Amino acid sequence: MARVLENASQERPIIKVLVDGQAFEIPSRVTILRALELLGYKASRVPDGSDIFAPCRTGGCWACAVVVDGELNPSCMTPIRDGVAVQTGRDAIEGFPPLRRVSGFQGHTVGGVGTPHWLKPKGRFSRYLEAACFAHGCILRCSTCQNWEVTYSSSVPALTPAEAARTMTRARKTFGVDRMAISGGECTLNRRWLIQYLIELRRLNRDDAACLHVDTNAVMLTPNCIDELVEAGMTDVGPDVKGLTTSTFMRITNIYDPSLASKLLETEWNAVRYFVDRYFGRIFVGVGIPYNRSLISLDEIHRIGMKLANIEPRLQVCVLDYRPEFRRQDIKKPSFSEMVQVKRVLEDAGLRCVICQTERGHIGPGQAIDSDDVQHEDVDELTLNITDNDPRLTASESSALPAVRDHEMKALTLRVLP
Ligand code: SF4
Ligand code: FES
Repeated sequence: MARVLENASQERPIIKVLVDGQAFEIPSRVTILRALELLGYKASRVPDGSDIFAPCRTGGCWACAVVVDGELNPSCMTPIRDGVAVQTGRDAIEGFPPLRRVSGFQGHTVGGVGTPHWLKPKGRFSRYLEAACFAHGCILRCSTCQNWEVTYSSSVPALTPAEAARTMTRARKTFGVDRMAISGGECTLNRRWLIQYLIELRRLNRDDAACLHVDTNAVMLTPNCIDELVEAGMTDVGPDVKGLTTSTFMRITNIYDPSLASKLLETEWNAVRYFVDRYFGRIFVGVGIPYNRSLISLDEIHRIGMKLANIEPRLQVCVLDYRPEFRRQDIKKPSFSEMVQVKRVLEDAGLRCVICQTERGHIGPGQAIDSDDVQHEDVDELTLNITDNDPRLTASESSALPAVRDHEMKALTLRVLP
């Protein structure tokens, strides 16, 4: 059902509240988070030492939770009420087990970007690889979010880490797997919750076969956070890098503040470097990168490949074919041939372990691609950054372009890359 927003000018009755033991009068019909801001508390979307860390603001992560009349509640979604008592202090909050919304405990046949390529199904056939669950809430606002129904939903109950770990352990048994993944949304937003969840999950799964896999957009992964996750038992991680340039990151994530976008993108890249420098070989690291021609150019993909290869050429890199989803129903799904081309561009940049998610399943490192599989009509579309009037092409290249065969296309593409 469509909803229409209308401007309404109604007076907000003034109510009395108690915040951290002090009495205040404030307007009603706002969230507790907004009420706290009106009272001078500082809230931030990144953990910068502000009074309240509120990254998702959709009720999923509970990083913004405060104590409301003796119970933990997310301040961004809980309305302020007359006579309510709110406590924001760390001691009061940490007197309760952390909570967050997490759902969808189920067997997963494909895995995430942090799933080793040799386990991923080739082609369409698949078996269960992992038991996975999904943390609600995300700091980003990707217009092609493939999991938006979870990311922005706050309708499932919030769980403690122990409750989630027990459910996941049961899912492991049900689906007969050793890998237990948490994805999202973004699972790292509520760090206290995630660390306790991993510790409890490890306690319930002490065997060597148990893998604790964290899939993340990596924008919260500072070195200190990474160390804590590894110490808590994380064995496999799939950090994303959503672009090389701030403008691409902003286009993909809909973070409109350039300085915030630049900071988040830098954190992603620093996280990848830190994982490699400190933990390569100790935990499994698989990096995810996005591809859709409407969002990122092949040029930038090549430069991402070079930067990653410079960090570690053996790093597993999984390219996700961003399809029409959520708010971007207008974009075109990358064709199989296009994804083959993306794989080649990354391999030519020096990466040795590239996997591409395609409409026909994953294509992994060393996997032979039947040339009949690559449609030349699609290859023509791979002009992407190279159109026949591209100023970087000579006249003869330009006129030959429509007829360029697959392998010629590759050479041509690489030649014009800056
Ligand atoms: S980072 Fe992932 S979960 Fe978050 S909005 Fe983007 S696609 Fe969705
Ligand atoms: S910021 Fe309030 S639930 Fe995430």
